[in-house]
Amino acid sequence: MIQLAPSLLSSDLLHMGDAIRACEQGGADLLHYDVMDGHFVPPITYGPDFVRAIKRTSTLPVDVHLMVTNPDHQVEQFAEAGADWISVHAEATPHAHRTLHRIKALGKRAGFVLNPATPLEYAFEVAGDADFILLMSVNPGYGGQKFIESFLPRCERLRNWLDTRGFSAVEIEVDGGIKVDNARRAADAGASILVSGSGIFSGSIGDNLAAMRTAVGR
Ligand code: DX5
Ligand code: ZN
Repeated sequence: MIQLAPSLLSSDLLHMGDAIRACEQGGADLLHYDVMDGHFVPPITYGPDFVRAIKRTSTLPVDVHLMVTNPDHQVEQFAEAGADWISVHAEATPHAHRTLHRIKALGKRAGFVLNPATPLEYAFEVAGDADFILLMSVNPGYGGQKFIESFLPRCERLRNWLDTRGFSAVEIEVDGGIKVDNARRAADAGASILVSGSGIFSGSIGDNLAAMRTAVGR
């Protein structure tokens, strides 16, 4: 089963409620929520209050991607606001084992994120601690960037490593540049959660979700 996760970063901020309803009707599995602090990445987006508002209008799980320098300062706040999944970056989380277990202790799904140039070995070390590994397929910070093709062999290698070492339950999420025309390749490489921002929110949300579902074929 492939899960489709529209990234709200590409939605119209003042009409996000309508976009979320269109995602629900179009069969999205979760809502991807990008938190940027102006430090780990240059842009600043939104904080936990917005998650609280989303949870009042939607039953879809909210997948909080923390692109911040001090994720340990944010985890409790987002959990308390209603985030269902919380992921932290390898490059910003010095005590990853502790942080991932803190997320789990709060009853949330814990994710570990690797930038495109970060060695996969970082994920190997926490495979027993994370519920999912998020492999970035762009450098984080902006929607609408081009998919980095080296994601594909990297994802295959990680999927294979996890499966051969008893970690088949650990899922791989892909984020960045996913569109209808490359979604199938990402899924075939082993990603089971596909984030897509500009690919879903340019044009009809319902049509784009349906086309992506057809493209992945599962
Ligand atoms: C990038 C964000 C992504 C972004 C994806 O830093 O983490 O979630 O919104 O947008 P697209 O699909 O347009 O690359
Ligand atoms: Zn993201």
